Amino acid sequence: MEKYVIEGGSQLKGEVIISGSKNAALPIIIASLLTDNEVVLYNVPFLKDIQTTISIIEYLGKKVYWVDHSCIKIISNREPYKEKGYVIAPYELIKKMRASFLVSGALLANYNKVKAALPGGCAIGARPVDIHIKAFEQLGVDHYVDGGYEVFIKNKARVKKNVVRFRYPSVGATENIMLFASKIPQEITIVNSATEPEIVDLAEFLKKLGVKIEGAGTNIIRIVGCKKFLSSKIEHKVIPDRIETGTYIIAAGITKGELLLKQTVPQHLSYVIKKLRSSGLKIETEEDKIYIRWVKMLKPQNITTRPYPYFPTDLQAQFMALMSITKGVSKIKETVFENRFLHVSELNRMGANIVVDGNTAIVTGVEKLKGAEVMVSDLRAGAALVLAGLAAEGISKISHIYHLDRGYENLADKLTSLGAKIKRIQED
Ligand code: EPZ
Repeated sequence: MEKYVIEGGSQLKGEVIISGSKNAALPIIIASLLTDNEVVLYNVPFLKDIQTTISIIEYLGKKVYWVDHSCIKIISNREPYKEKGYVIAPYELIKKMRASFLVSGALLANYNKVKAALPGGCAIGARPVDIHIKAFEQLGVDHYVDGGYEVFIKNKARVKKNVVRFRYPSVGATENIMLFASKIPQEITIVNSATEPEIVDLAEFLKKLGVKIEGAGTNIIRIVGCKKFLSSKIEHKVIPDRIETGTYIIAAGITKGELLLKQTVPQHLSYVIKKLRSSGLKIETEEDKIYIRWVKMLKPQNITTRPYPYFPTDLQAQFMALMSITKGVSKIKETVFENRFLHVSELNRMGANIVVDGNTAIVTGVEKLKGAEVMVSDLRAGAALVLAGLAAEGISKISHIYHLDRGYENLADKLTSLGAKIKRIQED
């Protein structure tokens, strides 16, 4: 099994180029299923989840080439296989990455009968898809569950109503319905849609196909699809990864270092930057750069995770690592996922003092963390443990790091270039 061995204590200094956004690239790669035109995507991060998504669209008939380390070319190779008239999105692929349930929206745009494996839950929560399913139903899609698959039958004639109202601004459900609506030649409105930058990026891509979309980035999105897309090659540059950006901002803070982040979008993290500035981190932003310098002992901060533009749940664990060595008491409330405190016990094994009370973690800052053997439970918890290892006294050994390969491109190389002492080893 591969592990990271980190010797803590280095102050990170230097420049980091932020990679493309995993959570923008995934739905856009899936959106390529909507068209037979050639699609070229730039600033695509080379990650496990991207590879998984590529294998899914290749199973469904596409051919994908890596033009260089961050550019992919997607062309249509064949029609997807069908089983008794149904296009199948198979469990062995969907189970690897929940976001692949988005293929249901893209396939339903083109085909009347689709069977999509239901994604399981994961470490951070049950991750139901009821909001997706209810919206498909409202848009005239019949469905039933059969052997772990959601069986969809699009009833061509009837889009029951053209307004779908989400009970919660689900990112995935917003993306799924945007994909499905892309070929419905009438106005579909999503009310209480997610407003994340990744939604806006997907909308920008769909507009290049000829889909009319208004309101992406707000909680009311209007879409008018088109039966026939523009027949030109589509090129799109994926936005930078705001969660990777936030992770490196916190890395500068937790190691008392000084970093310049390049090729990022500061506006995508305004709320996080505001919180970290009030904690005492010096942060300056201009165009596509963010400069961070640790200048004084930080002050504890309370945060509540919420949908964009508030504090993102995907930075909660990393922020907790920073607060674990910030003198005073910080309260961290997680409202997006029901089980996203799995990093607490591992941080406490490194000497942190964190008590969980329902959906709130009470963090009492300690002088120093101590290196330890710890285990990654999920992607962002893993980032928190790497950050803690960088700040801790002594050696940390981090296992189950395959979770990190899903969401951080060249993590060890980027950290090493900043002065971190981190090695990837093979150990049983
Ligand atoms: C996306 O997941 C991201 N993943 C997650 O990032 C991110 O944490 C999440 O949005 C919230 O910002 C990708 O974009 C690939 P949701 P998604 O639907 O779409 C509940 C990472 O680390 N819910 O907004 O699954 C759900 O259980 C990952 O990169 C329902 O109850 O998030 C959760 O509690 C982790 N029913 C909450 O809503 C539904 O039908 C938010 O889920 C859908 C969601």
